Amino acid sequence: MEDVIVVSGPAVLNGAVEVSGAKNSVLKLMAATLLAEGVSTIGNVPNIQDVWIMADLLRRLGAAVEYDPERSTVAIDVPADLLHQADYDLVRAMRASISVLGPLVARCHQAEVALPGGDAIGSRGLDMHRAGLELMGVSIAIDHGYLVARAPQGLSGARHVLDFPSVGATENLMMAATLAQGVTVIENAAREPEIVDIAAMLSSMGARIEGAGTSTVTITGVERLSPAAHDVLPDRIVAGTWAFAAAVTGGTVTVRRSRAQDLGVVLDKLTQAGCRISIEPDGFTVAGPERPLPINVSTLPYPGFPTDLQPFVVALNAVADGSGMVTENVFEARWGFTSELARLGAVVRLDGHHALIKGVERLSGAPVEANDIRAGAALVIAGLVADGVTEVHGVSHIDRGYERFVEHLTGLGAQIERRGLSSERDMFATL
Ligand code: UD1
Repeated sequence: MEDVIVVSGPAVLNGAVEVSGAKNSVLKLMAATLLAEGVSTIGNVPNIQDVWIMADLLRRLGAAVEYDPERSTVAIDVPADLLHQADYDLVRAMRASISVLGPLVARCHQAEVALPGGDAIGSRGLDMHRAGLELMGVSIAIDHGYLVARAPQGLSGARHVLDFPSVGATENLMMAATLAQGVTVIENAAREPEIVDIAAMLSSMGARIEGAGTSTVTITGVERLSPAAHDVLPDRIVAGTWAFAAAVTGGTVTVRRSRAQDLGVVLDKLTQAGCRISIEPDGFTVAGPERPLPINVSTLPYPGFPTDLQPFVVALNAVADGSGMVTENVFEARWGFTSELARLGAVVRLDGHHALIKGVERLSGAPVEANDIRAGAALVIAGLVADGVTEVHGVSHIDRGYERFVEHLTGLGAQIERRGLSSERDMFATL
């Protein structure tokens, strides 16, 4: 039987939370360690399920992975001879497994990576990853569900112009290019803070990268990289989740160990919703209004509004004083959770990639099902402003990206519990 999160509302959240390292950075940093033989150490690692999956994947490739939950570090010992096949059972569990493709093909000159599944939020093709590697001299075929990449002569630098600033394609090509011969230029590159973080770790491994965080990233290949130590940047999506939790419930939450500068447009939108925001050296505080004002949001690649926070905007508009429009420009099918939100009484009208949400005064508790990480967290937050009991099923999605979510919410004053076989403490104790 799967665990369920049970929330009793309404609640007003007050207090402070600390944010852990970014899921979307650490998974790629772990993959990047494959580029150098020896022991690399990553600090500020979140204890979440996706990290365990990546640890298993690296082990299958021949690396030894040790996690120290006390210090939040992972040490990865990468052997001289790596295996080069990433199996379907792991890739299916987590789409980010595809980020081993670039490092494996650069290091082993061959890779076989199962075609991914992952979040049910759109088609999420791999055409840009594929086209980019082909330009670098890699032959790619799809064979029995695997993407099979071969580059017997090694990789050579090339100029790529991405159709769209894809985060995953920018990262994979950047990692592959570190060991290619000559210069690689990625135009229309993604500019997310996680790209800057990964480039910083690659640079401390000896890679030559310029322009990470801008639309043009230039990588000059080197012969080999060495292991390095690096701390993961704070998770801006988790920080944003807490900011929305304060805004939706009308509470005051201090978000520590986070970087307000990575949340520029998000904090601006929360101000428009009626929140008061103060920036502090170690994070920021959001004080929500009694009832939020609706906000109009269009998701876009960074520095635009992050698609991963879109479900929280819908939750906020669902209880706002008026109507707000949300436009999803990154993942076309990221609306699955709105029908669950409707079970709580939200009024959402979908039209293609637009959602018009008419705020109601209060939601009412009901059983709902999470179908991805952020939708799951947003449904829990909506449950906080619903009268009575909301049961959120599909909790394993939340576990993929949030460390001790229920414990944090309890600390902020929510009446919430996790029912089922696993307590958060036990589950997250060891990797
Ligand atoms: C990453 C994040 C995810 C976030 C997303 C956008 C991780 C583990 N996940 O996902 O949380 O929501 O960035 O900020 O870091 N696309 C193609 N072809 C490609 C690559 C992408 O069509 O070759 C499309 C996708 O279908 C999607 C869009 O481009 O519609 C954005 O994808 P991308 O930026 O690559 O996201 P991910 O790296 O998968």
